Amino acid sequence: MRSGSAAIAVFTGTGNTLLAAGMLAEALRSLGRSAVLCPMEHGVLSLPKERALGIAAPVACFSTYPAVWRFIDSLPPGNGREVFLLATMGGAGCGMEGPIRASVAGKGYEPIGSLIVTMPGNYGKTKIDERNNRTLIDGAAEKIKKYAESLTGGSAVWGRGVPGVSRFFASLAHGRKPWDTFYRFFPLTVDRESCTGCSVCRELCPEGNITMEKGRAAIGRRCQSCQRCSAFCPAGAVKVPGRNYVPYREVELESILRLTKAGE
Ligand SMILES: Cc1cc2nc3c(=O)[nH]c(=O)nc-3n(C[C@H](O)[C@H](O)[C@H](O)COP(=O)(O)O)c2cc1C
Repeated sequence: MRSGSAAIAVFTGTGNTLLAAGMLAEALRSLGRSAVLCPMEHGVLSLPKERALGIAAPVACFSTYPAVWRFIDSLPPGNGREVFLLATMGGAGCGMEGPIRASVAGKGYEPIGSLIVTMPGNYGKTKIDERNNRTLIDGAAEKIKKYAESLTGGSAVWGRGVPGVSRFFASLAHGRKPWDTFYRFFPLTVDRESCTGCSVCRELCPEGNITMEKGRAAIGRRCQSCQRCSAFCPAGAVKVPGRNYVPYREVELESILRLTKAGE
């Protein structure tokens, strides 16, 4: 990385990617570079131009969420600006970094490195295994530290994806089909009895898919299943009816509010 500083655009559903991006920023700082985290939802215009661009995103449907693709697809011409990727996954990335690389390189950015780390799965959990989660996070932290060294040392590489597979999932992720299917299996629903009408879920939903109806939250049809509403509902009111489903989150509500409100 030639730039002395980086702006890392972060999207997170349940906090894994926010935690990982924070570790990367910290590691870059310890190597003498400055690094800031910015909310991806605010778009590229909110990012300091002179810095290398970091993209931090979760793997979803072997690609990434529509909210992340919107950010990538709307990037202005890169004019040689350095870009790097940090993705978090539950265990199967399927080369999702390949299509992202193609997209940013096509816009004139210089892809300098990518890393996908395994973090705790955040979907359809019936119990949270704290010990296993800690082991995964510690393992990811080690890899992220080395990744920061390889970025600053110039030896990082950006994977090209799995031929025929990653592009397929990237194009699938651009449409509604996978997200509607996820939602059909885990239809996040607001329990009107426990909802306090605080509207935190509406504020946090990256799709603007939550409205308040008669003082209670209601989830609409454009859900991308990122689990944010369920993870961060202070009353635990966003659930999957009929399932013994435990919401997962890796950071506290204050941290994600700080991220999503940054620069407002
Ligand atoms: C709707 C959905 C789809 C997911 N798809 C994948 C996937 O295809 N491959 C994978 O390894 N993990 C998948 N995961 C797990 C997440 O990538 C993983 O837990 C990630 O670290 C979550 O990051 P976040 O907490 O920042 O949202 C999926 C999770 C959700 C909620």
